[in-house]
Amino acid sequence: MKIALLAGDGIGSEIVAQAERVLRFFIEEGQKIEIEPGLLGGCAVDACGEPFPPATQQLAADADALLLGAVGGPRYDLLPREKRPEQGLLSIRKALNLFANFRPVMLFPELANASTLKAEVVSGLDILIVRELTGDIYFGQPRGIEIREGQRFGFNTMIYSESEIARIAHVAFQAARRRNGRLCSIDKMNVLECTQLWRDVVIETAEIYPDVTLSHMLVDNAAMQLVRDPKQFDVMVTGNIFGDILSDEASMLTGSIGMLPSASLDENNKGLYEPIHGSAPDIADKNIANPLATILSVAMMMRYSFSEEQLAVRIERAVRQVLAEGYRTADIFETGMRKVSTTEMGDAVLSYL
Ligand code: NAD
Ligand code: IPM
Ligand code: MN
Repeated sequence: MKIALLAGDGIGSEIVAQAERVLRFFIEEGQKIEIEPGLLGGCAVDACGEPFPPATQQLAADADALLLGAVGGPRYDLLPREKRPEQGLLSIRKALNLFANFRPVMLFPELANASTLKAEVVSGLDILIVRELTGDIYFGQPRGIEIREGQRFGFNTMIYSESEIARIAHVAFQAARRRNGRLCSIDKMNVLECTQLWRDVVIETAEIYPDVTLSHMLVDNAAMQLVRDPKQFDVMVTGNIFGDILSDEASMLTGSIGMLPSASLDENNKGLYEPIHGSAPDIADKNIANPLATILSVAMMMRYSFSEEQLAVRIERAVRQVLAEGYRTADIFETGMRKVSTTEMGDAVLSYL
């Protein structure tokens, strides 16, 4: 297993360090894992002047899987867009054709009271958000800020081809088939043509998945339903921008954004794995960030890129035990629990592994 480690910026190095300990533990056990660090995002801008430098492009091409912390931070906000750390992340997703983003929203029963929602609303929650990751308004042309008739206009293009929609729809139908057989497609077809095509193509794709129950929901309603009655959902499939927003919202159902891992896959299950959260500049360098989303991303890597189900389950069980024993970083802390730092959470996971 050739794994590239891209710590990135902000809390990235703190959380990836804990996930790396899990990988090193597997190496000690005899797993054939090679770890190669690389630069992506703001740290790459600092070192090489660009967010996705050639050395990282080579590293990404050679690796079987990549683990990312997070990129970005206020220090880089004044850079031209193509030099922004986030552009590095968008470029690596595009370069590796990582169009299928899996964001499982699963509540550990131990965290039922950590959510800001009532425990009965979230207990037993298990949703999979399938987000299209290489298209939509994120990548559409034309885009820009231009002066026309004496004032500035900002514009982006929301665009999907039918083949882009169909391939993510197939991924989502197949995921639903492996789960509870229900797929809800999220769009805004009442207003946006791009998402009318989305709905049409999803319906056409459904013909070869008669065993999956397909429903559709407008994105504004979906945002509301996620907090009203999230357990109505099994698999949700949506475009790049709606998926970005809905997954941050859904993360709070599980107690914290610091709990949600993700996998971004190409057609051959080569993948980039990362927590769904960002570089959290407000808590960087304090050793208080929750590393569990990143550690759980390693579990997803073992499962999806390496078919090492046993290793994935062992990581997930260790996390579950750590929570059962009351270990809590600040973001999921409740009275009566043991408040721990980032590194202490790593210690706890390692000890249960
Ligand atoms: P964020 O996700 O970084 O932080 C939002 C809030 O959640 C903050 O209060 C933060 O402290 C908290 N939080 C996030 N992760 C946490 C963790 N592991 N443990 C405890 N608390 C955690 O979002 P933001 O503040 O909007 O963005 C900050 C920077 O990160 C921006 O530059 C943004 O572009 C970037 N970003 C990067 C990624 C990525 O690399 N995949 C994702 C989202 C945002
Ligand atoms: C995410 C992030 C990224 C996105 C940004 C940092 C480019 O928010 O991974 O969810 O919008 O996809
Ligand atoms: Mn996001």
